[in-house]
Amino acid sequence: MSTKITLNTLRQRKMDGKKFTCLTCYDASFAALLDDVGVDVLLVGDSLGMVIQGHQSTVPVSVDDMVYHTRMVARARKNALIMADMPFLSYRDPATAIANAGRLMAEGGAHMIKLEGGWVMLETVEKLAAQGIPVCAHLGLLPQSVNKLGGYRVQGREPDAGEAILSDALAMERAGADIVLMECVPTALAQRITDSLKIPTIGIGAGPHCDAQVLVLYDMLGITPGKRPKFSQDFLLGQSGVAGAVRAYVDAVMNGRFPETQHSYT
Ligand code: KIV
Repeated sequence: MSTKITLNTLRQRKMDGKKFTCLTCYDASFAALLDDVGVDVLLVGDSLGMVIQGHQSTVPVSVDDMVYHTRMVARARKNALIMADMPFLSYRDPATAIANAGRLMAEGGAHMIKLEGGWVMLETVEKLAAQGIPVCAHLGLLPQSVNKLGGYRVQGREPDAGEAILSDALAMERAGADIVLMECVPTALAQRITDSLKIPTIGIGAGPHCDAQVLVLYDMLGITPGKRPKFSQDFLLGQSGVAGAVRAYVDAVMNGRFPETQHSYT
């Protein structure tokens, strides 16, 4: 019997000390395959701006793009929970955030949305939660702010910066966020945050102690041109096909074999 993945499933996994898995997904064929293998969360990430559309960053992605890809994923999904990214400037104030999150859910078929930012998003997260919109708060490296950050680099290494990310995570939980996702933060900080929160955490370049892991699908299939990020791994190596690679990823995450030290930051 197949079981639909809900936020309750993910919360229960955290309480039981069991991991869950997430991969980015942008179309119906991959959605069907990932769902079939048992990936718990399909993230329609705005990374599609880079891996699908060929942009240099996620900044040019529009709400229409996100609705389009979310709808394709939702058509093929059977059990996985669908999380969709709110693109750049689509949540610049609470009213705009509610309108655009509403589109991703009502038109796209997403079950929850993800937005980037900590305490500055407090009011927005509170208002989204009050409307019954589940929220994942993306902390650490914020790809939509790459132009402000001056590049993609590890966040939270200095003590003050680490404390700020921890207090952002606690603030997001208090505001009503359902999941915290951490990108490119030191392993010890991600562990501290995961232990401090009741809500589940998802990590990417955040070490092995998060409640779940996510990778960009095209990175873990070795398709992304250029240098693969340190935190990723080509799971297609040694497998005879895509389903085998996804199965190997799910198995490695569920059994604590991914990520290893070489994929993590200190
Ligand atoms: O858009 C995306 O793929 C993401 C992941 C990097 C977590 O946000």
